[in-house]
Amino acid sequence: MASKLSFLGLLAATTTSIVSAGPCDIYASGGTPCIAAHSTTRALYSSFSGSLYQVKRGSDNTTLNIGPLSAGGVANAGAQDSFCASTTCLITIIYDQSGRNNHLTQAPGGAFRGPEANGYDNLASAIGAPVTLNGQKAYGVFVSPGTGYRNNAVSGSAKGDQAEGMYAVLDGTHYNGGCCFDYGNAETSSTDTGNGHMEAIYFGDNTVWGSGSGSGPWLMADLENGLFSGANPKNNPADPSISARFFTAAVKGTANLWALRGADATSTGGSLTTYYSGARPSVSGYNPMSKEGAIILGIGGDNSIGAQGTFYEGVMTTGYPSDATENAVQANIAAARYAVTSLVSGPALSIGSKVSLRATTSCCTTRYIAHSGGTVNTQVVTSSSAAALRQQATWTVRAGLGYSGCVSFESVDTPGSFIRHYNFDLQVAANDGSKQFREDATFCPQTGLGSAGGGSSFRAWGYPTRYIRHYNNLGEIASNGGVHVFDSPSLFNDDVTFVVGAGFA
Ligand SMILES: *[C@@H]1O[C@H](CO)[C@@H](O)[C@H](O)[C@H]1NC(C)=O
Repeated sequence: MASKLSFLGLLAATTTSIVSAGPCDIYASGGTPCIAAHSTTRALYSSFSGSLYQVKRGSDNTTLNIGPLSAGGVANAGAQDSFCASTTCLITIIYDQSGRNNHLTQAPGGAFRGPEANGYDNLASAIGAPVTLNGQKAYGVFVSPGTGYRNNAVSGSAKGDQAEGMYAVLDGTHYNGGCCFDYGNAETSSTDTGNGHMEAIYFGDNTVWGSGSGSGPWLMADLENGLFSGANPKNNPADPSISARFFTAAVKGTANLWALRGADATSTGGSLTTYYSGARPSVSGYNPMSKEGAIILGIGGDNSIGAQGTFYEGVMTTGYPSDATENAVQANIAAARYAVTSLVSGPALSIGSKVSLRATTSCCTTRYIAHSGGTVNTQVVTSSSAAALRQQATWTVRAGLGYSGCVSFESVDTPGSFIRHYNFDLQVAANDGSKQFREDATFCPQTGLGSAGGGSSFRAWGYPTRYIRHYNNLGEIASNGGVHVFDSPSLFNDDVTFVVGAGFA
């Protein structure tokens, strides 16, 4: 009796610890502990209660560390929302939860220079990727082209041909073909030092190197000078196109053995599908590997900055995790219940309505967003303006062409043409149906940032640090500080705030 009770007690305790174990507790149990654990959405150890990430706000450049609501829990998004109210916020640090201080910060330039004035990459908006975990709001890291994080002095990462594993939870619908949306092991010099000097998760539909079945996007491994979907030859039909909104991607590698595994991150089946497991590429330089041990997020090893994607959480391990360990991690991710939430706030824009967008900066309160041919500008418009001008300043609200939860603005006088950004300038152009056009024509309304209160600001869906702004009476997508003249912080909040009114035509 006594022994039976204590056995049941032990069983209960064991069950509890398995249920509450975080991904890194699971990797540790499997003998392949995390050497880095990065997430803006939740703690990745059951006991972790430190800082998950740091945000910096535009109003006064001060920073705030965001931790979990409780040990092992979901990030305190409410603290971010309060701190960032009525201003802009960037993610400045993604802390390492492993205790090794392998934090990710703004990536420096490498073989490719970043877009900041000092050559660094851009930081991500703190609000580009809202989600819920078990119903609690949190924010992921929305990487636009030009955005990147890195640590070139990592403690404990795999070097040479040493074994490692890694996973990341990504947005399976946010990708492109640019090089390279990666998370994983890369060069410490931010330059391409040759085949086999990287081992990182890649996600996107680039076909220059490898590819899988269908048209992508695919999970591949960036091993430097190649994105690999499997063994040679380049195409691995067992590497599927991914359509899951939340996608668990796993890559691992050891002596002449590596694997690609993945699953819908919300799938409670508790296992990853193996897309490839086998020998290293037969091309020179990949066996043995020459891993260097830096960690990158959102960029290539040489700081290639052409890619986009969204990262919610990920880890790097030492040792080659077993499939069973990875499957247990996948079960934990599914239990975190990632789900989508709205990207918009502020006054509602009804789809199909015709609207005008009035500037609110004190210089310009009689001016409205209009267009002259392909150029988006502001013009003084009234109900007695010429019919042509009234039409040029009236827009039909459409469900966002690139993301239906946001909006697009169709020109009333040129049906089929929409406001889009191109090189950060706003244009009115015909919808060519391309993914690029649809994304560049999508804006997410939010409560106006302007000092007067009220109104709406319109975040570029694909560049959530950037908002529709009038500057010298021209339309741009501008960030609050940056390399373009129109990124000036002066009057930024007012310049990006518009009053949505009835259309003129
Ligand atoms: C924040 O820092 C940037 C760059 O150092 C500077 O240009 C800007 O004026 C600062 N903003 C405020 C509100 O202090």
